[in-house]
Amino acid sequence: MDSKVMGHPYSVPAQQKIEDYYTAMRRFWHPVLPAADLPAHEPIGVELLEEPVVLARLNGEIVAMQDLCRHFQARLSLGEISKIPGAGECLMCPYHGWSYAASGQCVHIPQLTHERQIPADAQVPRYLAAERYGLIWVCLDEKPRFGIPQIPALDDTAFMTGPLRTYPVWQAAAPRAIMAALDDTHGPWVHGGLVGDRSHTAPPEHTVRREGDCMLVDVRMVQPENATIRENGRSNGHGPQLQAVKLCTTVGIPNMIHFMIQAEGSQKRTQIWQAVCPKKYNETLTFWGSARNYDFDQPVFDPVFETMQDTLREQDKRIVESQRPWLVPPFWTKVELPLRPADLPLIEYQRWLEELGITLAL
Ligand code: FES
Ligand SMILES: [Fe+2]
Repeated sequence: MDSKVMGHPYSVPAQQKIEDYYTAMRRFWHPVLPAADLPAHEPIGVELLEEPVVLARLNGEIVAMQDLCRHFQARLSLGEISKIPGAGECLMCPYHGWSYAASGQCVHIPQLTHERQIPADAQVPRYLAAERYGLIWVCLDEKPRFGIPQIPALDDTAFMTGPLRTYPVWQAAAPRAIMAALDDTHGPWVHGGLVGDRSHTAPPEHTVRREGDCMLVDVRMVQPENATIRENGRSNGHGPQLQAVKLCTTVGIPNMIHFMIQAEGSQKRTQIWQAVCPKKYNETLTFWGSARNYDFDQPVFDPVFETMQDTLREQDKRIVESQRPWLVPPFWTKVELPLRPADLPLIEYQRWLEELGITLAL
């Protein structure tokens, strides 16, 4: 194999490759913050694809702008919300008080003398922002390639929504985090006793298809009876029994994954989803949610269920953080060796990323 193609397996990508990755990823909506974490009268700074972004609620609308003042490039997120006659609520820089309207245009400069106008280019880039699934989503490109992923099940009123959680940053690329959730063969090795069993290592049956902006994967697999699928209360005390489970998976390309989980013969259905924020090429923040169509009389926070999810995430974290190269390499490099039919969902996800220019060789 050509060593220039492979590079050192642990080396960081060339700067140009990182920029190519960011350019490809900028065309998608990404989740950046739980909407509940953005106060009514205070801006907050977040990071997306190494771009500093300030979020604020201005005149009843969620606004995202580049988090750098046009004057001397101070962080607008350290500033405050001001009220400017004719422009309403604006974002005021903490350094010299320049105020920016929701459009990104500067509309007030306290130091402006009478003979001067506000310079026409006193403006900061404004980005697309929207609220969905309890999260604030931002697209850094004016023309998103896809919409915010559509997951109709999350609007189904037959389900009770669990808490929205934010997991600390993983030192990994966002597609690798999604692939870890999509991978349906690692359970026996990484999550033995929870969602896998080493006496059942054959690949699950799975089918994959594309529908709109999403990839749909149906999986039938065997899992130990666990907190997600357990039929009657808590454990029977005789250790986990194996159970046939159906997972209907929806992958919002490139950064969201949703599971509808149902044990065979059961009416209980549980939804689990993750949406990941690529802060940097090698730093990924995960937002995680759940919903269930049972136990409506119980609190939404089920400590047994939540503890199990925390354990699964910890088990995955150390594996995903160990993967190199950081960015998913295209098939032609042969750096990785996905196997059919076991890795079919991953192969199809990666194929789509490749079409969108998101996979990159070092
Ligand atoms: S740096 Fe923002 S007002 Fe001067
Ligand atoms: Fe896992």
